[in-house]
Amino acid sequence: MLTSIVNLLYLIGAVAFVWGLRLMSTPDSARRGNTLASIGMGLAIVATLIAPMPNAANNYAWILGGMVLGGAGGFMAAKRVQMTAMPQMVSIFNGLGGACAVVLAMTELVHYYDGTSVMDQGQLFIVLTTLLIGAIAFTGSMLAFAKLQGLVWDSQVTLPYHTVVNWILLAATIGLTAYLFIGGSRLGLGMALGLMVLALIYGFSFVAPIGGADMPVVISLLNSFTGLSAAAAGLIYNNNIMLVGGILVGAAGTILTVLMCQAMNRSLFNVLIGGFGGGAAAAKGADGDQVAKTVTINDAAIQLYYSQSVMFVPGYGLAVAQAQKVTKELEDLLEANGVDVKYAIHPVAGRMPGHMNVLLAEADVPYPKLLDLEDANSQLPNTDIVVIVGANDVVNPAALDDPGSPIYGMPVLNVWDAKHVIVLKRSMSPGYAGIQNPLFFHDKTRMLFGDAKDSISKLVSEVKTL
Ligand code: TAP
Repeated sequence: MLTSIVNLLYLIGAVAFVWGLRLMSTPDSARRGNTLASIGMGLAIVATLIAPMPNAANNYAWILGGMVLGGAGGFMAAKRVQMTAMPQMVSIFNGLGGACAVVLAMTELVHYYDGTSVMDQGQLFIVLTTLLIGAIAFTGSMLAFAKLQGLVWDSQVTLPYHTVVNWILLAATIGLTAYLFIGGSRLGLGMALGLMVLALIYGFSFVAPIGGADMPVVISLLNSFTGLSAAAAGLIYNNNIMLVGGILVGAAGTILTVLMCQAMNRSLFNVLIGGFGGGAAAAKGADGDQVAKTVTINDAAIQLYYSQSVMFVPGYGLAVAQAQKVTKELEDLLEANGVDVKYAIHPVAGRMPGHMNVLLAEADVPYPKLLDLEDANSQLPNTDIVVIVGANDVVNPAALDDPGSPIYGMPVLNVWDAKHVIVLKRSMSPGYAGIQNPLFFHDKTRMLFGDAKDSISKLVSEVKTL
């Protein structure tokens, strides 16, 4: 009877995961999706706790202690984290998932080698795979966190011929895994510890040469690794919900990785061998005698107020400045004067998938006002003014016309097709790819320097006086 209840709860939990993911596919229902998936996870935890487990009675204090500590830590972190630091948080969560997989696999291996449990070859394969993927996801994610947080620079962790070093480490790791698999219980725990250390080193080394702007792709890939290690752990414990949850995380992470690569027009292989970002030397900068023209708040406000159509292009700077609410305020004022206002959303604007959608949803910008890359590009020639709010790489024409640029081939928003372009940023500093943007020197472009929230607040005040 108890087993049937547990299985029913697992089934409801699994349906909640799938339905929750479905709801997360549009910003309108994403919050509900997240809540539903959390309820599914809550049911899965309750079901696991009431499931008949040998020796469980001795362990409840440990289990509940871990849940309280982990739950409190996760809750505080999620409450405090800034939107701009989300990728770092995802990275840490990923890493901890990988660490759990390592601990589970090592516990099984300790019992296997001291003879207190037996495993067939299939089970041994699953345990070794869990150990391998979990260890790579753990150190890889921790290094990704340190890089994104600015604690470690690429040059501090890369060796000469790093790609070759990585191939050797990968071959050694796979070779040792095969040796442990073939050797079975004749081998000792020392070898398994050796594999754990080697995989931990490989995880670190694998992420080390990957450039800053590619980090979100790597984090998504590591996320899918963690999902796979959780799925493998589900197989070890014959736990269906762990298996389903792990497969969903693994599949979602893989799909996201592929989508991000497509949005940047790069292959995953190209991302993994590094070479993006920091390409200032390779990129063609502006000619020394080119000067960017500026616009005053007053002129910009008049232009916007008396135009027929305006398209905002949000980017990472909008997130840094937290300018979403004032942008919406400006939108409302312009619309009250009959201006048609839209937002152009580039798929990799910001630092994580859906970054701009989340921020604009927070400011109650109606979803139909958000145009994707293709729609925005087709409407740009009929747009009077484009206002770029802290975006840079995603509006860089070098992606189309400079084969020497590190972002050459990446689809961008063709903002220069509009009649006028106003760029809101604080300085002439480059964006995440570290390259100069010729758009800033274009005839149609005027720069409005300053923090985006500050500049838009001033535009709002100015428009109110018109
Ligand atoms: P970026 O190219 O990073 O440019 C952001 C700009 O915002 C900077 O030039 C910066 O200039 C400006 N800025 C920063 N703080 C500001 C503030 N408080 N007020 C006004 N402006 C501010 O951003 P993007 O155009 O959104 O492009 C995203 C980049 O990340 C791309 O290279 C993309 O490939 C990469 N990436 C994104 C993702 C995802 S999933 N989103 C995944 C992988 C890679 P100042 O310092 O002069 O102000």
